[in-house]
Amino acid sequence: MFVLRFILPLLLALTSLAIVATPLAEGLVSRWFQRDVELRATLIFQSVEYSLTDLWNQGKRLESYKKLFDNIARDERVLAVGICSAEGKLVTKSAQWPTNFACPASLLTPEPMFVVQNLDKGALLSGSFQLPVEDTLKPRFIVLHDLSFALQRESETQYYLIGFLIIVSCVAAFVTLLTARITMRSWIGKLRLTFSDPKARWSQQRLPREFVPIVREVRQMLRDIKPGAYPLENIKVDWTPQALHRLLKQELPDSEVIVVSNREPYIHNLVDGKAVLQRPASGVVTALEPITRACKGTWIAHGSGSADRQVVDENDRIAVPPDHPEYALRRVWLTPEEEEGYYYGLSNEGLWPLCHITFVRPTFRESDWLAYKAANRKFAEAVVQEAKTKNPIVLVQDYHFALLPKYVRELLPDATIITFWHIPWPNPEVFSICPWREEILQGLLGSSVLGFHTQFHCQNFMDSVDRFLESHINRDQSIITVGGNATLIRPYPISIAWPPEGLADVAAADVCRQAVCQRFALDKEIRIGVGIERFDYTKGIIDRFLAIREFLIDYPEWRGKFTFIQAAAPTRSQLSSYQTIQKETYEVAAAINSEFGNEHYKPIILLGRHHEPQEVFELFRAADFCVVSSLHDGMNLVAKEFAATREDERGVLILSTFAGASKELLEALLVNPYDAKGMATAMHRALMMPPEEQTDRMRLLREMIRDNNVYYWAAHILMDAAQLRKRANLESFISETSEQKDAL
Ligand code: G6P
Repeated sequence: MFVLRFILPLLLALTSLAIVATPLAEGLVSRWFQRDVELRATLIFQSVEYSLTDLWNQGKRLESYKKLFDNIARDERVLAVGICSAEGKLVTKSAQWPTNFACPASLLTPEPMFVVQNLDKGALLSGSFQLPVEDTLKPRFIVLHDLSFALQRESETQYYLIGFLIIVSCVAAFVTLLTARITMRSWIGKLRLTFSDPKARWSQQRLPREFVPIVREVRQMLRDIKPGAYPLENIKVDWTPQALHRLLKQELPDSEVIVVSNREPYIHNLVDGKAVLQRPASGVVTALEPITRACKGTWIAHGSGSADRQVVDENDRIAVPPDHPEYALRRVWLTPEEEEGYYYGLSNEGLWPLCHITFVRPTFRESDWLAYKAANRKFAEAVVQEAKTKNPIVLVQDYHFALLPKYVRELLPDATIITFWHIPWPNPEVFSICPWREEILQGLLGSSVLGFHTQFHCQNFMDSVDRFLESHINRDQSIITVGGNATLIRPYPISIAWPPEGLADVAAADVCRQAVCQRFALDKEIRIGVGIERFDYTKGIIDRFLAIREFLIDYPEWRGKFTFIQAAAPTRSQLSSYQTIQKETYEVAAAINSEFGNEHYKPIILLGRHHEPQEVFELFRAADFCVVSSLHDGMNLVAKEFAATREDERGVLILSTFAGASKELLEALLVNPYDAKGMATAMHRALMMPPEEQTDRMRLLREMIRDNNVYYWAAHILMDAAQLRKRANLESFISETSEQKDAL
């Protein structure tokens, strides 16, 4: 490379110089020799002028000139001499006078004249001098010089010149190479010192002047490629899968993306002996599928469907979406014991209640921990098997994989690992009860970026690391360094697709309302509240019901005029904590219904089953308000879905302050789910809210969600990944340069 960059241009420059200089040098040399010969001819004439004049005046016979001419012709450069008349007639000549060489008329002027004539072989220079005699012939003494020696010297000069230029080129190239190498060597050494501990070095000695522009440039580059250095808010685009696709191609060209989540984006279940495809309603799938599709990536997930094994190939892969495949889904199989310990045990009886402050006691069993570790290893190995490059972007999802980042880092040190923790992170006191807290923190710190929904959860995580691990925490930049690996801790509030997929097929709000009233045999004047979520104790469904009771007590005018429809999809039903909450919820609903209802009226309609998106949208559109009363939630996408569904800009969102969404959805009626009276007041306020206020609030909520949709969330993460990769490339370039310097 060095030869190409430096020596070739130098040689080219010198060759061009040779091409231009050679003809110039040739002309110079030939003029030089010609003048020399002219001078000689003049000298010859001056030395024989008197003798010739004497001879001519004495009227000597022509033979008398012979002796004189022979003497002159002894000079090897002189070819011949002679005398011509003014009419161009040859009067006399020496013996070597070329045959047929006549006296050219042009020579016969009174002044000395020199003319060069090119002949077949060589060239002749004729010098012509008038004899100072009184004679009508006006005789002129002619000296003929052979110029072939000049031509020969000209070509010799040309060879010498080219040879000289070649030697100069080689010497110049060698000197340039040597100087450049010596300079580079010393610069790299100094640069390395400068960058290794800039503050210390710069305070002790002046930064070498030649480094100032380089250091300025490198600092600028490092500043520019810091995650978050280019806030996405400044990029004015509508975030869509296409915009995300473009960003990906531009910022992370040719990058390999591997997603790891516990829940699969496509599940095959056996229904009546046939494999039937099902899509879990999952925010994670909505967010990550466009990325995986755009990169033709790989999604690794637990094959939990009853027909999953039937449809995969010999590598446990299936191309999805099945009707127009765009990426590979790699299924990982877990034994029932592994699933029991890893998924139900540590994930959902340990970490889930640990991270959600809902006063459900976390359970930590050694056997669960071992299964969790084994499952994380299994998934890490699957990542390595699927990776086609040594530095894929691995997007790790959620609390099922706290150890996976570290395991992947050990196997693929150059991978960009981005872990997103979809649930809250507790404060250090709460986290301290986990028996494997250090291992969990270390596992997560194998990530390049660790994302939470809110800054508050990032802070809790950093406080936990500060408390339990030997680490360096840069709080200004939110970077934690443990054992040489740096992890950036960042908030990325997740969101939903905008507009939600399938919403276009849903009827207008009044039609939805009619349909819902009809389905549940409700009076057409009834006011409707809705709640829709998984049947999870974190969602505060019972607290919401207790608030409805309070509402019906405090505002009895609503009895018979208000119904609350709660859709709750059973989840993790194998666990006793979930069985208990489901049972209790039914009991509370039944108690309230019997307290305030009758055979025609039920204040609470509890639908304990999974609802397809179309049914969910219909319920949202039919409602006067929606309650999201999570006792603790990372984000809560239901709150965002409700607003996204309300294209009519009506309806009120009642939102728990303990849901991450409350940090963004400020126009909701914010409530404390533990305060039943407060929630009851909010319900009354929602039902009494003037339509204009509903519209004002709903419009702002919708704008916020549209601008910060899930594609924006993914773009945010990918931009940070891109910045990290550019930074890593620059750093590896700097260290490679240092290694090259060492090798010199
Ligand atoms: C939460 C978690 C997700 C999980 C989802 C459904 O939102 O953060 O990781 O997939 O619940 O729970 P499940 O146990 O059914 O996957």
